[in-house]
Amino acid sequence: MARTGDLAARDPADRAMAAPVLECRGLREAFGDLVAVDDVSFYISPGETYGLLGPNGARKTTTISMVAGLLEREAGQVLVDGKPMTTTSVGVKALCGYVPQEVAVYPDLTGRENLRFFASLYGMRGTRAHRRVEEILDTIGLTARGGDQVKKYSGGMQRRLNIGIGLLHRPRLLILDEPTVGVDPQSRNAILESVESLASEGMAVLYTTHYMEEAQRLRPRRDHRPGQAPGGGHLPRACGHGRRAGPGARGCLG
Ligand SMILES: Nc1ncnc2c1ncn2[C@@H]1O[C@H](COP(=O)(O)OP(=O)(O)OP(=O)(O)O)[C@@H](O)[C@H]1O
Ligand SMILES: [Mg+2]
Repeated sequence: MARTGDLAARDPADRAMAAPVLECRGLREAFGDLVAVDDVSFYISPGETYGLLGPNGARKTTTISMVAGLLEREAGQVLVDGKPMTTTSVGVKALCGYVPQEVAVYPDLTGRENLRFFASLYGMRGTRAHRRVEEILDTIGLTARGGDQVKKYSGGMQRRLNIGIGLLHRPRLLILDEPTVGVDPQSRNAILESVESLASEGMAVLYTTHYMEEAQRLRPRRDHRPGQAPGGGHLPRACGHGRRAGPGARGCLG
């Protein structure tokens, strides 16, 4: 956290000079005859949010699964903080928080119990784990409901918990797969504000969406044309948009 705090305190020009948190070069994946991802290259700097926009089947999940080291790629390179990511890179995966498209929490446990369980998987114990869980509940706006079973949460609350789990270990790179699907406009806004806030603290954020208005909230970076991934890659029917988070864009979900 100190590292992200330090970045936030720096001049924006310094942040622009910072080495990318994520670099993807020439990503390619095929399922039989279907070339799902063809020569996609892009990078994300500290404090930057980068969205992959596309309809159902546009290859968004396939692309970020390769980035997160969950799917073998046919070709290409993924570097996180300059270190190569593969499906077996445990140490590099620890730099990432991955929030899957489907909510992946235990419905019979409370929100707090879910967070404590996942914190233990990250090796957090005792006071450190307790403090971090309470911090996350605050960040996702679920402190008051932390003692309720998740199956009694609304869909939007479950999505917020899903995101909170990805934040527990303070990742350098947060990867969100359609974090706002099935969420009401107010909760969607809260989730997007939270994503912008995390980026303003120096975290790099990669997310997917099929909502045009979410992409419009992001301004296209000038190093590529809409519809073409930066670096000249080709993600059929999807396009990437990125921007740096504005200063002071702090807030919490809810
Ligand atoms: N393991 C697989 N084997 C074969 N085809 C696959 C596999 N995974 C994905 N695909 C195909 O790749 C294409 C892209 O799927 P993907 O899940 O990446 O799309 P998406 O953009 O995330 O869609 P959605 O918005 O519905 O989540 C689809 O045609 C899908 O059927
Ligand atoms: Mg998907």
